Amino acid sequence: MSQNLTATASAPANIAFIKYWGKKNKKLRLPTNNSISMNLSGAQTMTTVDFSPEYDSDQLTINGYQANERELQRVSSFLEKIRQLAKIKYFARVDSENTFPKGAGIASSASSFAALSLAATAALGLKLSEKELSQLARLGSGSACRSIPDGFVEWVTADTHQESFAYSLYSADYWEIADLVVIVAHPEKDVSSSMGHDVAPSSPFFQTRLEQYLPEATNILKSALKEKNFSIFGQIIEAETINFHAIALTSQPSIMYWNANTITVMQKVKELRESGLEVYFTIDAGPNLHLIVEQTNIERLKQELEKLKDIKQIIVSYPDNGARLISK
Ligand code: PMV
Repeated sequence: MSQNLTATASAPANIAFIKYWGKKNKKLRLPTNNSISMNLSGAQTMTTVDFSPEYDSDQLTINGYQANERELQRVSSFLEKIRQLAKIKYFARVDSENTFPKGAGIASSASSFAALSLAATAALGLKLSEKELSQLARLGSGSACRSIPDGFVEWVTADTHQESFAYSLYSADYWEIADLVVIVAHPEKDVSSSMGHDVAPSSPFFQTRLEQYLPEATNILKSALKEKNFSIFGQIIEAETINFHAIALTSQPSIMYWNANTITVMQKVKELRESGLEVYFTIDAGPNLHLIVEQTNIERLKQELEKLKDIKQIIVSYPDNGARLISK
């Protein structure tokens, strides 16, 4: 075979408003609950994949540097699934670039596995539907399946690989809100979410979250999205993030993702609201915060945040499209 087996794709990271926390099937990364997210324009991964009979192993660079053994192993076993689908045995060279800093509290695994899924399947000439691509990306990293469709996205839980995928609820231009990622710490390395997913059921509150809290919170959030009711939307995302961190804190072992600066910014958000600036926080598996505002309030919020001495960086994102093929 002598044709060109190269493709480049980009994909955004996403922020979950209803969090994925806990898996019912670890190997297939089937989540215990539906989750809802928004793609982030300010946090993208661009990945080029080149399959060739000339390579004698898979190779991976991230931001121009050779990846470590653990990262290479994870990508290589994911590529293996795609090689099986395409019935091609060639190894690949993968070059991945992020537009956002490592340890920014933005999960690069979501944008990376979404971009990799699209680039690798396109390189091998596989024509997957959006749903099939989302299922595939999920096998690389759970939240990556939400970076495939456009805009505001829901990932559905299910008992089988075929039934658990993400789809677009609304396009990226549906609602003019923004996410300001507030970086209060640069963790040395990404805090693994896998351990958190594994121990989540040990929290005495986990079943209550699944059976009572989430069904209602998800319904209210969906109605707020439909009606573009920012106040209800914000109250739900804040309550949900606290619920998720309560599970992490009460798991065995207990996981605390926040640091002192996280709490300072959480308090600042409440103060700003009391003073009339409507802003809400959501926090993933790390110390950094995502502040959600209407786009008309971005500059005001930035000015307020600049007064806080412990903030290292702010990254502004708008709702964005999902994964895109750049070249083939
Ligand atoms: O996709 P993972 O395994 O990195 O898990 C993501 C977990 C959270 O970011 C905390 C929540 C979410 O739904 O994105």
